[in-house]
Amino acid sequence: MKKRHIILIGFMGSGKSTIGKELARMGQRTFLDTDEYIEEKEGKKISEIFAQNGEDYFRTLETRLLQKLGLQNTPCEYVIATGGGLPINQANQEILKSLGVIVYLKAASDIIYERLERDKKRPLLQQGNKIERIQTLLTQREPIYQKLCDICIMTGHKEIETILNEIESQYREIKKIVEKK
Ligand code: S3P
Repeated sequence: MKKRHIILIGFMGSGKSTIGKELARMGQRTFLDTDEYIEEKEGKKISEIFAQNGEDYFRTLETRLLQKLGLQNTPCEYVIATGGGLPINQANQEILKSLGVIVYLKAASDIIYERLERDKKRPLLQQGNKIERIQTLLTQREPIYQKLCDICIMTGHKEIETILNEIESQYREIKKIVEKK
């Protein structure tokens, strides 16, 4: 069965979960957040998984979830909000492409910093200087997000409402891409 999900990718703090929920509501789709799914399955917070089992273990869980979605034979159409590091693994990229249309929510490092300055939930941003860490990771990841996506939306300082309006106006385009895939 052809997969016609909408997958949101982007750096931590780019609004994937918030926007994904609204997008799902608008398109009458089911919302799935990969981080939330993993936390529920493991019965632990992401920070605990990183601390107790390590990042590699977490990455294996991400890949396993994608594989499961790839094999799933249901007509259910999801909006999937992915963890910021999930698209970095090459095997994951192939599965993501096969799942549907990929929307990159793009944000600049200073804006991400503003949003995550006080964040304690994201283990990768708890060590060292936060803005430098964001800049380094974003520089590594940006070309991957960009290459992988079908549609890129600049989030910036825009209100959620504005971003949703932009997505809504691109929604027809997104649907065409999903249907062609
Ligand atoms: C990560 C992003 C997080 C979460 C984990 C690792 C990353 O998700 O998966 O902390 O490597 O960028 P969000 O992008 O939803 O914050």
